[in-house]
Amino acid sequence: MSANGPIVSSVPAAHAPIRGHGEVVSNVVDGNGRKLRLRVEGWPGASPGQFVMVGAGPESSVPRRDPLLPRPMAVFRDLGPDGEATREVELLYRVVGRGTTLLAEAEEGDTVSIVGPLGESFPVDGGTGPALLAGGGTGIASLYELARALAAQGRETVVMLGARGEQDLIGRGDFAALATEGIELVCATEDGSVGVAGFVTVPLGERLAAAGAEATVFAVGPTPMMRACADLAAAAGAPCLVSLENPMACGFGVCLGCAAPRAEGGFSLVCKAGPVFDAREIAWEGLP
Ligand SMILES: Cc1cc2nc3c(=O)[nH]c(=O)nc-3n(C[C@H](O)[C@H](O)[C@H](O)COP(=O)(O)OP(=O)(O)OC[C@H]3O[C@@H](n4cnc5c(N)ncnc54)[C@H](O)[C@@H]3O)c2cc1C
Ligand code: FES
Repeated sequence: MSANGPIVSSVPAAHAPIRGHGEVVSNVVDGNGRKLRLRVEGWPGASPGQFVMVGAGPESSVPRRDPLLPRPMAVFRDLGPDGEATREVELLYRVVGRGTTLLAEAEEGDTVSIVGPLGESFPVDGGTGPALLAGGGTGIASLYELARALAAQGRETVVMLGARGEQDLIGRGDFAALATEGIELVCATEDGSVGVAGFVTVPLGERLAAAGAEATVFAVGPTPMMRACADLAAAAGAPCLVSLENPMACGFGVCLGCAAPRAEGGFSLVCKAGPVFDAREIAWEGLP
C-alpha cells in the first residue's frame, strides 16, 4: 500500500445480514467488562470490523419484550464452526447504560435479538508492511479477528491495547493467546499497572518510527485516541484506518442518526459507509 496514494476505506461486506436471535451460551465477567457468547442460528460469519445490533426486543427473553432499541456491538470473535447452520459468536462489552445493563443480566439459555453482520469491514489485503493495530476502551473488540486476518496474510501484526489500568484491558487473555498465530501483544496503561506506562500512542509512535510509511495503522477507540493515532500515522506517511463508534438507532441507514462529518464536506452514515473509514475522510472536529 502506498504511503500517500488512495486507500480503500472499506471492502464490501461478504456476508448477508440475518435478523434473528442468539441464545446465550455464557456471559462472563472479564476485567471491568463482560464477554457474551451467543449461539446464533443462520449466522453467516462476519468480516473483521463488522458489527451487530443486539439487545432486548420481540426475539428476546431479557427482559421479556422490552421495547428498548438494540445497541451496536462489534463482533469480537467469530467462533464458527464454518459451514454449520448454527454458529457461535462472541461480543466484548462494558456496562455503561440501560442496554448493556440488560445484556449483563442475560443468563445461559436466554435469548437476545441480533441483526447482522452489518457495516463495511477493514481491508486486510492492501499492504505488506507491519500492521499496527491500536485499540482503546471497548474498541479493542474490533481488533481480534482483524489481527488474525492480517497475520494470516503473512503480515507482521502488532496489537496495542490501551486502557486506564489492568482491569480495563478486557479481552487481554484472548489477545495474548494470539501469540500462537504470530501476533504480538503490547499493552499500555495510564496507571502503569501493565506494560508501557501511558497512552497507546506511546508504543504506536515507537513502532511507527521504526516502520515509517511501510506500516498500516488500524485504530479503534475513543475519538481523541483515534485522532491522535491518525495524526501519528499521517506524520509517518502511513495509511490509517479507523472504526467510528457513533451512537446508532437502526444500524442500516434508515434513521440517519449516526452521520459523521466528512473532511471534504457533507456527512457519511457510519452504519452503512462505515464504521471503517480512511482517517483522512473524517472531519474530526465535528465528532463527539
Ligand atoms: C459500530 C459500533 C461498535 C461498537 N462496539 C462495541 C463493543 O464491541 N463493545 C462495547 O462495549 N461497546 C461498543 N459500542 C458502543 C456501544 O454501542 C454503546 O456503549 C452502547 O450503545 C451503550 O448502550 P447502553 O444502553 O448501555 O448505554 P446508553 O444508556 O445508551 O448510554 C450510556 C452512556 O454511554 C454513552 N454512549 C452511548 N453510546 C455510545 C457510543 N457509541 N460511544 C460512546 N459513548 C456512548 C452515552 O452518551 C451515555 O453517556 C459500539 C458502538 C458502535 C457504533
Ligand atoms: S444508525 Fe440509523 S442510519 Fe445509521
